[in-house]
Amino acid sequence: MKVLILGATGLLGQALMREWSGDEVVGLGVDDVDIRNAEKVREIIEKTRPEWIVLAAAYTDVDGCESNQELAFSVNRDGAVLVARAAKNAGAKVLFLSSDYVFDGKKTSPYEIGDARNPQSIYGRSKAEAEIQLLEVIPTCCIVRTAWLFGSGGKCFPDTILKLAATRPALDVVSDQRGCPTYSVDLARTIIQLCRKNAQGIVHVTNAGECSWFEFASEIVKRSGFSTEVRPVSTQQMARPAPRPAYSVMSAKSLLDNGIVVPTWHDALGRYLQERSG
Ligand SMILES: NC(=O)c1ccc[n+]([C@@H]2O[C@H](COP(=O)([O-])OP(=O)(O)OC[C@H]3O[C@@H](n4cnc5c(N)ncnc54)[C@H](OP(=O)(O)O)[C@@H]3O)[C@@H](O)[C@H]2O)c1
Repeated sequence: MKVLILGATGLLGQALMREWSGDEVVGLGVDDVDIRNAEKVREIIEKTRPEWIVLAAAYTDVDGCESNQELAFSVNRDGAVLVARAAKNAGAKVLFLSSDYVFDGKKTSPYEIGDARNPQSIYGRSKAEAEIQLLEVIPTCCIVRTAWLFGSGGKCFPDTILKLAATRPALDVVSDQRGCPTYSVDLARTIIQLCRKNAQGIVHVTNAGECSWFEFASEIVKRSGFSTEVRPVSTQQMARPAPRPAYSVMSAKSLLDNGIVVPTWHDALGRYLQERSG
């Protein structure tokens, strides 16, 4: 099988490039192809002729999206649709990366794939609109919604916490937002399986289990042996430009329907810390 990864230099893209073996994989970053450039996108896809395109490229600065709305929609929605159109013309299948931010975070039980989209931020809206338009272009495409991504090769929550814990006696971390941390390695392995299984439709992919950012930070600090105090604070106390969903736990049902089980975030954190120290 031949696979084209767009966004290969990002956090997930790097994990996909490391984990994917046994198939012919072409990975391109923004310097190779800007997904807003229709002609270039078409040219690359025509030249590469992949069976699958994994679309991991995105403008992922959630707060930045609030002040750069045009950029958010042009990359995350319009760029994604450009790729889908070119893929359709070339007969390639598409796996698109979406987000828990398509939901409003008001539920109190895990989000199922059929739950109504109601994004509260520009980033979430750009992803929700991309999903809808992509499904119009390629009704059989695979949309992987993930959340709270962490891993090597870029900025991520555990890395930030570890750097702060090394220099500060105490850290304030939000305790009223709950979600599912997701290790880039486990997400990459799941995406590889989904492509090999010819998966279609929406799939929620996170590590198993749930926690608040405070609980996640406490576990990171504890496992790393720092004596830094982790203090719970409210979302209100830590105002950010983009609203965050209070609850974005994703149900594993769609994963199980595809015959896939993803390890717990506790297990994933252990492997990440090992990878980081090695
Ligand atoms: N991180 C999370 O917590 C999270 C949660 C839910 C969903 N997701 C989704 O999962 C996917 C992967 O996330 P990630 O954390 O790996 O993101 P990332 O590290 O920010 O990687 C995204 C990649 O896309 C590239 N890119 C940006 N604009 C582009 C453009 N116009 N054309 C081509 N490439 C462009 C970026 O290049 P530059 O860095 O050079 O700009 C970067 O290499 C994204 O679709 C993201 O929305 C992420």
